[in-house]
Amino acid sequence: MVDVYLPMMKAAALISAGQLRLFEALKDGPLTTPQLAKAVGASEVGAGHLADFLVAVGYLTLTDQGFANAPHTERWFTGKGSVDYTAGLLWTAESWSLMSNLTAAVQKGAPEKTLWQSMQERPHWGPIFSSYMHAFAQHLGPDLLEKVKLPVGARRLLDLGGSHGLHSIAFCRQYPGLNSVIVDLPSALTQTEATLTEAKLSERIVLRPGNLLDGDWGDGYDAVFYLSVAHNQTAEDNRRVIEHIGRVLRPGGLLLIHEYLTGAPLDLYDAAFRLTLLVETATRTYSFEELSGWLVAAGFEVPSRIDLDPREKGSLLVALKK
Ligand SMILES: C[S@@+](CC[C@H](N)C(=O)[O-])C[C@H]1O[C@@H](n2cnc3c(N)ncnc32)[C@H](O)[C@@H]1O
Repeated sequence: MVDVYLPMMKAAALISAGQLRLFEALKDGPLTTPQLAKAVGASEVGAGHLADFLVAVGYLTLTDQGFANAPHTERWFTGKGSVDYTAGLLWTAESWSLMSNLTAAVQKGAPEKTLWQSMQERPHWGPIFSSYMHAFAQHLGPDLLEKVKLPVGARRLLDLGGSHGLHSIAFCRQYPGLNSVIVDLPSALTQTEATLTEAKLSERIVLRPGNLLDGDWGDGYDAVFYLSVAHNQTAEDNRRVIEHIGRVLRPGGLLLIHEYLTGAPLDLYDAAFRLTLLVETATRTYSFEELSGWLVAAGFEVPSRIDLDPREKGSLLVALKK
């Protein structure tokens, strides 16, 4: 029961801290219990119990001046770090409810409803999920720019499942001659237009709301991004999508895939993610060999593989169209 009770309390406390913006309140220095309670709009008894527990699990420390963020808390859950994953806590507060469907999904081999169907019923989910993906993209973005060079003279990029738009924005900034088309479900694009306007790139990056499986993406592309999208599709749909990417890319064009590759034996993170996907989308993670096989069959060179550091950040596959 210790393995059930303590992880439940740890996750619940971290989510509450995210919802109350408690870590952000401690960003500029330690606070006593009354100061902390006031800063997050909570009762003193509640803020005290929550902060005591967060000290016990190592997310806060207790100093002479009161509660303070631990270094990793400041790094990952406040505006002081380069990436603030508070949006991940807010998304977990929502997606938590999906885990009550796990037993049924295990019995049936698929969820009653996919995440995307649930999002249509709960319109507030789309922006929260996209904000979480936005944080991921801030984390991953520098790796993409450092490790991937687009073909010389590249002008047209297709960003499948491009959501928040951050990757298209980063590459359009890096390559002044580049324009991008983002295809994603309407639920994922609610904030993107505003982000593009703020980045002053709405003339160069256009949105095509829709189901990417419909294949309505235009053609004549120099580069295609398929970033963290394959695990949301079935194997057969990925095979078809990659085949279609092969048709819309020019010879010598580049396809960049970001994925959490599976392998034998499964590691803990992969096994947990596969269970999440069973309950959310009825899909799974794929191996390098599976993706590589679909790429070669679609007329690509054998892709190169870059495993990111830390390992939980996933892997990149870079494939050139013959
Ligand atoms: C894990 S997120 C990745 C977002 C972004 N590419 C990134 O790397 O940060 C997966 C994205 O794929 C989109 N997506 C999944 N299935 C889709 C489909 N059938 N048609 C269009 N978009 C889809 C989701 O809406 C979501 O924005």
